[in-house]
Amino acid sequence: MLYIDAMGAATLRVFFAVWPEPSLRASLAELTTEVARDARGRPTAPENIHLTLAFLGEQAVSRMAPLCALAARVGGHRFVLTLDEIGCFRKAGIAWLGASAPQFELVALQKRLAGGLQARDFPVDQRPYAPHLTLARRIEVAIRRSLAAPIVWKVSSFALMASETTASGPSYRSLAEWPLASE
Ligand code: 2AM
Repeated sequence: MLYIDAMGAATLRVFFAVWPEPSLRASLAELTTEVARDARGRPTAPENIHLTLAFLGEQAVSRMAPLCALAARVGGHRFVLTLDEIGCFRKAGIAWLGASAPQFELVALQKRLAGGLQARDFPVDQRPYAPHLTLARRIEVAIRRSLAAPIVWKVSSFALMASETTASGPSYRSLAEWPLASE
């Protein structure tokens, strides 16, 4: 179901992402605090931690229905992500959580989604997909290490999200969500 309360807005800043379940969010929040402290950055608010599949930027509200229609055709099965690496994008000042090994099912999901977007003339980032969860921004110290205990995430859905900028930082809202099939 598509939920839009755009309050008269002509466009929405949107992206597709996978969002952690509340049970996983507690351990991610803990890691975020630790990484932000070590890298001397600003931690991502626990409710904002996510993994982006495709960022679309400002899109007309009238484009939300075709966007949802293509997302509904993406399909795929649930999969497990193993996140075991902390790193940073120095230029962007971001510290992230990612995976040292390729996460084939995630990449396949992102590819199917990007293919659908491209086919319907939505913007697709031409850079190689670099899956990551932003844990801290505006970092002052570069950070890179492995996690002794990887974070294991059972991904069972993906969502279309709207991003709004508020006085206290970004706020994300789920517009629609698609379950991935169980085995
Ligand atoms: P980031 O965490 O690395 O900034 C919402 O902004 C989500 O879309 C974030 O996960 C962000 O990644 C991602 N994103 C990708 N490209 C973006 C862009 N050009 N501008 C803003 N966010 C972008």
